[in-house]
Formats: sequence, C-alpha cells, structure tokens
Amino acid sequence: MANGTFILALDQGTTSSRAMVFDRDGNVRGTAQQEFRQHYPQPGWVEHDPMDIWRTQLDTAREALRNAGAAASDVAGLGITNQRETTVLWERATGRPIAPAIVWQDRRGAPLCDTLREAGHAERIRDITGLELDAYFSGTKLAWLLREVPGARQAAERGELAFGTIDTWLVWQLTGGDVHSTDASNASRTLLYDLATGDWSDEMLALLDVPRSLLPGIAPSSGIIGKTLPEHFGGALPIAGVAGDQQAATFGQACFEPGMAKNTYGTGCFMLMNVGTTPAVSQHRLLSTVGWRIGERSDYMLEGSVFVAGAAIQWLRDGLGLIRRADEVEALATSVADTDDVFLVPAFTGLGAPHWDPYARGALVGVTRGTTRAHVARAALESIALQSADLLRAMRADSPTDLSELRVDGGAARNDLLMQMQADLLGVPVVRPRVAESTARGAAGLAGLALQYWSGQDELAAQWKVERRFEPEWNASQRDARLARWHQAVALSRGWAAG
Ligand code: G3P
Repeated sequence: MANGTFILALDQGTTSSRAMVFDRDGNVRGTAQQEFRQHYPQPGWVEHDPMDIWRTQLDTAREALRNAGAAASDVAGLGITNQRETTVLWERATGRPIAPAIVWQDRRGAPLCDTLREAGHAERIRDITGLELDAYFSGTKLAWLLREVPGARQAAERGELAFGTIDTWLVWQLTGGDVHSTDASNASRTLLYDLATGDWSDEMLALLDVPRSLLPGIAPSSGIIGKTLPEHFGGALPIAGVAGDQQAATFGQACFEPGMAKNTYGTGCFMLMNVGTTPAVSQHRLLSTVGWRIGERSDYMLEGSVFVAGAAIQWLRDGLGLIRRADEVEALATSVADTDDVFLVPAFTGLGAPHWDPYARGALVGVTRGTTRAHVARAALESIALQSADLLRAMRADSPTDLSELRVDGGAARNDLLMQMQADLLGVPVVRPRVAESTARGAAGLAGLALQYWSGQDELAAQWKVERRFEPEWNASQRDARLARWHQAVALSRGWAAG
C-alpha cells in the first residue's frame, strides 16, 4: 500500500488548467482552476503559449493541495490528463518552446491533409493509425512547425528538439527535463502511432517527414515514469498515471468492459466506447484509438466527436442574445412541449464524426411565423442530443458488443432536459454519476493503481455511483421519425461553405 493520504490529478484542458486532490474513497478534497489565454492569429488558427500552460498547471496543482490542506508528504503521487493532439516543439537544452503550441482545433494542417489525400494515402493512414486524415491530429501540426519555423528542421535533424503533446510537455517541466515520455492513449492521437504494433510508425514518420529523434518514449498509462523536482511541491512526487482527457474520462466513468460507453458534454461532445483488447475497424468513420495501456494490456476505444455541443448554447447567448446565462436555456426550452418541427444544425465549424465535412455550416430550418426563442432554444439543446445519437448509432453498428447504458459527464450533463432528450433519442438509459469529475478521477485512478493506492479496477468500479438514471420514454418509431427529420436538416447544411 502506498504512503500518502491523497492522489493529485492535473487536468490540463483547452481553456483552463485544473487540479484536484482525491482521497482513498474517491472523494474530491481540494480543487483549483485557472483559465489561460487563447490566441487566434489567423482564421482557423488556434494557439496556446506553452509557458502559460505550464505556469497555470503548476499554480493550480499547488493551490489544490493547499485547499485540501495537504503537504507533499501527504500525497502518494500524481496523475496527468490533458487536452489531446495539441502540439509543442521545444529545445532539449533549454526547455524553451520554439513556437506557440498548435491547438487541436487549429486547421493549418488541412492543406497537407489534402495533398496526402490526393496522393491516395487516406486509407493506408486509417489502417495504420485508426484515425481520419484530418488537421485535428498532431502529425500535420508537427510537420507544419518543422517546415515553417526557421531553423526547426535542421535543429531537429541534429537531435536538439523534442516534440510532445501536452502530457509530455508537463512531464518534461515537472521532472526538470529528465523524462521525455508520453502514454499510449496520447500517442494514438498523433497520426504517428501504429495501433497494431503499439509503437511509432516508421511509415507515418516517413510520410510526414518527421525525424524519430523528436519523439518521446511511449509508456503505459498507469505506471511510475518519473518524479517531480522537489521544488515544485516541496517534495518529489511520483508521476504515476497519464492519459488523454477523453480516455481518462472513460476510465473515470469505470467503462472497463467492452460495450460500455461515456459521452462528455463540453464545448463539443466526445463519445468513447470500450471495444476490448483488439482495435475496432470502423465502417462509419469513427476513430479507433487507445483507451489506456496498463502493463502489457491495451484497451481500445471507438470514438466519435461532435465539434459544437455546449458551444451551441453559448451561441444562443453571445451570438443571438436569446439568453443571458447558459443555464437559462433549460427553463426556456422546457416552456414549449417540442420544437414545433424547427431544427438547428450547429455545423458552425463543419461537421465531425460521422460526416467529417469541413464545408458544412450551421442551418436553422422549419422556422414559421409561430416560431419563438423558446423553440430555437429547444432546437439548440436537442441538436446536442441528436448529434450524439448519430454517433451512438454509428458505434453500435461498428461494435460487436451492444450498449446497455450511456454514462455522461461534462458541464451540460447537468441539464436534466437534455439528458432526458438523450435517453429518448438513443433508446438506452443515460446515467449520470455522483462524482461529476470523471476526467480528473480517471487520471487519479490510473496513478492510484500504479501506486497500489487502490487495489485494482474493481475497487474503482465499486466507487463509481449513480446520481441519476434517465430512462427512454420514446418508442422506436418515434425515435426513427425524429432522427429521419434531423437527417433532412443535416443534409441541408452539408457542403454549404464550398459554394
Ligand atoms: O481532442 C480534444 C480534447 O482532448 C479536448 O478536450 O476538454 O480540453 O476541450 P477539452
């Protein structure tokens, strides 16, 4: 059994850095959060300052420990979870980034994706990596940095640079440059990882012209990979767990068996389904990805992402001024019995899975003289559930195991109306856990297992408790009719920006 009363989880997200302290019963004992600046230097570009990420993460970790009343000696170790795909390139000698971090939302890799697609590589890339050829992933972002940052290619060839996703960047900083490591879940989002071998793919490195010397080692998601410098927390803490945030949330939701799935309702939605120890091949353009690697065993996931979910509610607030606060949407949407055949397709930045249409744009259809802001609010809310229903249908078609319930988390999962809509549209129960912090819980869980702080996944599964279960109230024909109508609306949004 590990020494220490607590596990510290670092949750480095797209818009904020958070930290949480967990006790042995899985309760949150201290927490802290700091937002940091987003940079949009050109349309379609999104950047972060890697030093902002590091500083806010270190600050919040210290603050969470203070809030829990914990000293370093009270902490058994820490786990890291992170926004995925975001790409950092830095000097090994100084630890200085040579450019801003290119964020997962950034589209600048799209021309290279187009070139590779035109050259006929898309299918082979899907076979090797399990991913779509899309600018979302790290590979084309890294290729862009090597090509565009003066001197980067030469320095890389000389072995002077290190590449990392945000987990790797944080581990480097926490260990004072001692450890250059990622975990299998993060590696599987780079477009450089071979799902079949569990290692970097020479073929992908050649295709994207990335020198191998840049790459971190790939460690299990649960295991001690190094220790923090003592000055960071007043004592050296073992870094014992690392996973990408969506995979960590799936772990935190205890989706340990094939067929178990979770959906996180944030700015976008990320739905992941456990498919077991063999990667699934999607026929519906879902991603095939590593959930976590523990020891020699990897658990694989099918993943679907919806780019605009909670962001549709923000648009009601900021774009249309229909509500003043995001949490007003539930009351407004509940004030009408249905949307009166109005649909909102929030394809503001194109459509993700299963469509992958960068040229789709938002559409509001079915509007009549009788349409009110309540109908539009309800349509926006329903669009989140409809997009997620499309993902789940694709997953069920791809997965050999059927799904018995969907576990939910993220800010918008607090919205009861949305959760009921979701259950109705899926035809399976939607289950909200008592500890809503699935992502941090997952990182803590992975670290705690490695430290023998928790005895095994069974103990973590037993700690996971239901707060509320939403049962479907619609029959299959109601569901099918609603989805068919929605697909008519989606068809109208497709290809719009292509003219
Ligand atoms: O793939 C991107 C995802 O990891 C971002 O998650 O929660 O930081 O927006 P989040």
